[in-house]
Amino acid sequence: MARIPDAFIDDLLARSDIVEIVGARVPLKRQGKEYAARCPFHDERSASFTVSPTKQFYHCFGCGAHGTALSFLMQYERLEFLDAVEELARRVGMDIPRDTRQRNANPETRDLYAVMEAASSFFRRQLAGSDKARQYVEKRGIARDIVERYAIGYAPDGFSALRDALGNDTQHMQLLERGGLFSKNERGHVYDKFRDRLMFPIHDRRGRVIAFGGRVIDPEDSPKYLNSPETPLFHKGRELYGLWQAKQSNQKLERLLVVEGYMDVVALAQYGVSQAVATLGTATTPDHAELLFRNAPDVYFCFDGDRAGRSAALKALESVLPRMKDGRQAFFLFLPDGEDPDSLIRQEGVEGFDARLRDATPLSEFFYASLASDVNLSNLDGKARLAERCKPLLAQIPDGAFGDLMRQRLTDLTGVGARASTPPPPAQRMTRGSPAQKPSLIRSAITHLLNRPGLALDLQTPYRFAALRQPGIELLSELVLLVRERPDISTGALLEHFEGRDDLAALQKLATLVLPGEESALREEFLGAIAQLEKLVLQQRIEELQQQQREGALDDAGKQEMRELLQARMQR
Ligand code: GTP
Ligand code: MN
Repeated sequence: MARIPDAFIDDLLARSDIVEIVGARVPLKRQGKEYAARCPFHDERSASFTVSPTKQFYHCFGCGAHGTALSFLMQYERLEFLDAVEELARRVGMDIPRDTRQRNANPETRDLYAVMEAASSFFRRQLAGSDKARQYVEKRGIARDIVERYAIGYAPDGFSALRDALGNDTQHMQLLERGGLFSKNERGHVYDKFRDRLMFPIHDRRGRVIAFGGRVIDPEDSPKYLNSPETPLFHKGRELYGLWQAKQSNQKLERLLVVEGYMDVVALAQYGVSQAVATLGTATTPDHAELLFRNAPDVYFCFDGDRAGRSAALKALESVLPRMKDGRQAFFLFLPDGEDPDSLIRQEGVEGFDARLRDATPLSEFFYASLASDVNLSNLDGKARLAERCKPLLAQIPDGAFGDLMRQRLTDLTGVGARASTPPPPAQRMTRGSPAQKPSLIRSAITHLLNRPGLALDLQTPYRFAALRQPGIELLSELVLLVRERPDISTGALLEHFEGRDDLAALQKLATLVLPGEESALREEFLGAIAQLEKLVLQQRIEELQQQQREGALDDAGKQEMRELLQARMQR
């Protein structure tokens, strides 16, 4: 799928109004030029959350949440980027560029979603009508409201219940087959894949049914659990059972629990732990890890205490490491032999289960405990072995405090640094004796620009300041060029261009500063800062030429240039 062009996002944001988008979801109060509210992203009594109609972004002074209408939808509705784009585009009546459109825009997949939904309704009706199935649900102690919330159903015995109910023409037969609801024998005859099973529909992040898991009712049958195959809608390595319901039941997800089974998810929910999800009979993939952390800052992995559980935990650990950005935490919880979350919560209730969660092992501890389990750290060889084992894994942790602490821990344990060799610090590119670094000047220019992007249009080309060799100058130039291309761009839309870049956080901070003063005075300040920067460029060039002169390498043209520059400097 191709990337959505930046210009489209710019247009989309230009046509959307953040006050409208946020206001439809959070009660906003007018406060001067901005709007304020109690932050929807953290608990608070006061209103630290502000929405600026002029900058077209929101910012919370309490928890630091911030962004555009697009990021608000992603954060508040927990939508994926493309889903949020689609939502906004629909509101303002824009068409998403053809090759970047979502799979559901395709009429064929739309029909596929519809048939999955119809199958789910069918299974639910069958559960209501089957004594045998209802007895099983009762025996497993699943409450009625949980059956509703998770849309649990029953696939009847026989080979053609679903087929007879929904496969009334070739088109529907094809859709049911593509949805993974049929099996086929050697003679090409199709029949219901799920028979005499309790059915757990799997929802995607927008609540659409995309697959099923079915549990046998008759203990003689096998396999115990049968999942839908991979289909155009369903890729099991990317979906989590119960995530939709967890998001529905929690205003804000502080944590997610990853368990092994469908039954575990629904039993936990029934007893009040509504943040559990299950991988679908697979190990935790890196896609899962990303999905988990995108929805909650803390993730708890629950595993059986046996060897299989330990090895599954190691797999999860590997998938999680590359996603451990700062602010994210992972924990590992090992359950007693023969128990699963379903059985434990029924015995111990929420309090007991919560106590276990509080006792869970932090990732850092689990990491070193399992990697060092068979090495002897009292001798050199053992330390070296541990260091060698850890290095490739530690290298996968994104830069940040967590990674630093993990590497520090390795050094503490072994005396060996985690990095193979520290690269020498980058050579200073500035010439000796160049003007003192004035980041505050560049910072000030950027701040003005972020507050009033239109100021960039007052600058004369060519942009001489861009030649300055100082940190931040490239960022400033980039901002100026962006505004030149899109003269009406708002602060929020401007920031959107830096999504995914290291500079974003700093830019966001500067963008939230409110600069006091008259419009005209602010403009003077901005132009003044740029003029100062250009003066520094002049100085920088003079010093370059002087250096050449000292080295005896200055030719006539250079001498002429120097004379002119010195003259110009006097006149400024
Ligand atoms: P109950 O026995 O109903 O309590 O389920 P459970 O969740 O305790 O079952 P178990 O611990 O055996 O399995 C956990 C998860 O592994 C299930 O929810 C399934 O996703 C998966 N699983 C178990 N058995 C099978 C199987 O036979 N085939 C497949 N594909 N997956 C299975
Ligand atoms: Mn179980």
